Amino acid sequence: MNIRPARVDDLTGMQACNLQNLPENYTMKYYMYHLLTWPQLSYVAEDNKGRIVGYILAKMEEDVDDSEEQHGHVTSISVLRSYRRLGLAKKLMVQSQEAMATAYRAAYVSLHVRKSNRAALGLYRDTLGFTVKDIEKKYYADGEDAYAMRLSLKHLT
Ligand code: ACO
Repeated sequence: MNIRPARVDDLTGMQACNLQNLPENYTMKYYMYHLLTWPQLSYVAEDNKGRIVGYILAKMEEDVDDSEEQHGHVTSISVLRSYRRLGLAKKLMVQSQEAMATAYRAAYVSLHVRKSNRAALGLYRDTLGFTVKDIEKKYYADGEDAYAMRLSLKHLT
């Protein structure tokens, strides 16, 4: 298994992985926007035949007001079911976080996660050290609440 920066020709594989794993889906234009605007922040995990088995799609937050610090945001991450619990998501997150800090001087990284997503909460809170900043009521299209989570990157900048 190999982790490397995502390229434009990976986007269909990333979108296919997203469609299999999550109800939050995005247009190809939105994937492309991430890659063209912040090429250092999105990564893929590929198997030994070069097939995409996981991805992280990430960006810098664009609507930052004067009171806020520059920060990164994880738009989406997922790993195909048969490749889970191998540490791939952790590696994808760490690579993107390091690039947010070094390439863009991000002070922290933010993300949203469903309150019921036990696996992702385990990854963010227990493995990576994210904390819950806020609860956003009915954030998801089906009415589920989101935890808005954050992790400081100041030790990396
Ligand atoms: N239950 C509890 N803790 C878990 C689980 C689980 N099922 N899966 C991972 N973790 C935690 C553990 O602490 C794990 O460490 P350990 O294996 O040493 O115990 C740690 O996370 C790291 O696990 P990884 O192997 O790196 O995680 P994996 O590659 O399996 O991917 C992911 C985790 C991305 C959440 C995967 O389960 C998945 O694709 N789920 C469906 C899509 C999804 O929910 N994505 C996140 C949505 S939120 C967003 O995109 C911002």
